[in-house]
Amino acid sequence: PKVKGLRGDDYYLYQGFWYAPFFLERLMSVQEHFHPQSTDIFVASFPKTGTTWLKALTFAIFTRSRLSGSTTSSLLSKMPHDCVPFLNYNLAQNPSNRDLTIPLLSTHVPYSCLPKSIISSCCKIIYICRDAKDAFVSLWYFHATLQRSKNVEPLPLEEAFELFCNGIANFGPYWNHVLGYWRASLEFPEKILFLTYEEMKKDTAAHVKKLAEFMGCSFTLEEEEEGEVQKIIGMCSFEKLSNLEVNKNGKCLLDISIPIPNSIFFRKGEIGDWANHLTPEMGARLDDIMERKLKGSGLKLPR
Ligand code: A3P
Repeated sequence: PKVKGLRGDDYYLYQGFWYAPFFLERLMSVQEHFHPQSTDIFVASFPKTGTTWLKALTFAIFTRSRLSGSTTSSLLSKMPHDCVPFLNYNLAQNPSNRDLTIPLLSTHVPYSCLPKSIISSCCKIIYICRDAKDAFVSLWYFHATLQRSKNVEPLPLEEAFELFCNGIANFGPYWNHVLGYWRASLEFPEKILFLTYEEMKKDTAAHVKKLAEFMGCSFTLEEEEEGEVQKIIGMCSFEKLSNLEVNKNGKCLLDISIPIPNSIFFRKGEIGDWANHLTPEMGARLDDIMERKLKGSGLKLPR
C-alpha cells in the first residue's frame, strides 16, 4: 500500500512501517549488507525526538577519555550528525565499507526492521523518544522549513496532524516505533537503553552518568570531581550547540542529494512547545491515541 506523505511524496508500507522511497531503498541496502562490530553503539530514534542532542552527548562522553579531555572540541567545529553518522543515510550507500573513527552510529529504523546482524550482535542501542505532541510539532516544522527553502508551500499543520494521527510519517506509526524499542529494552536490558527526552531534560547529569555506564565508559571519581559531567552537559546544551558557527551557518550532507542547513536541527529544544501550535483538542486527541496504543505495555511517556 502507498499513501501521500508529509511532503506530498508517496510513502510505502513495509513490514508495518511507512517509508518514503528514499528511505526504503536505503533500508533495503543496510538490511542486506550492514554488519556491526560487537563494540558498536547505536543511537536509535524516531525523527525529531532528540537524536541530535543524544548524538552530541554520546559523542562527548565516548571521546572524552580517548582524547584526554580535548575531545569535545570536535563538537565545536562539526555538527553532531557529522560526528555520529546515520546508518540509514550516510552508510547506506556503501554499508559494508565502514569508515568510522569511533564506533558510534545512529538510525531511525524501527527495531523490527533493523538488520538481523544488529539484533544478533553484542552491539548496544540507546533509544530516545519524546512526547508525541512535541515530536509531531518538531517534525512538521522540519518538513515545512525544508519545503519553504525550496519555495514549496508546506502541507498545512492540520493536514499533517491528521496523517500523523493515522500513523503516517517516515518510520511511523510513531507509537509502534516507540513500542518496538520499549519491548526490546525490557527483553534485553543490557543491550538496549530506553530514554526519554523529557527525563533527560529534567535530570541531565544523572542521564549523562547513566549513558557513560551503559556505554562502558563510566566517569571516574576524579572526573566527577573535576566537573567532567557538567562540562559535557554544557558543551551539548541547546544554547551552546545552536550558537556555534557550524550549526548556525553550516550544512550537513545526510545523503549526497540533500544538503540540509544545520540550523534546522536546532529549533527550540523545549518541553511542551506543542501547546503553542496545536489546539487543546488536538493535544488531547494525540494523547488519547498514544495512551490507547501503549496500554498494557508498562510504558507511560512523560509529558
Ligand atoms: P524542537 O523542534 O521541539 O525544538 P532530532 O535531533 O531528533 O532531529 O530532534 C530535534 C529536536 O531536538 C528539536 O526540537 C531540536 O530543537 C531539539 N534539540 C536539538 N539539539 C538539542 C539540544 N542540544 N538539547 C535539547 N534539545 C535539542
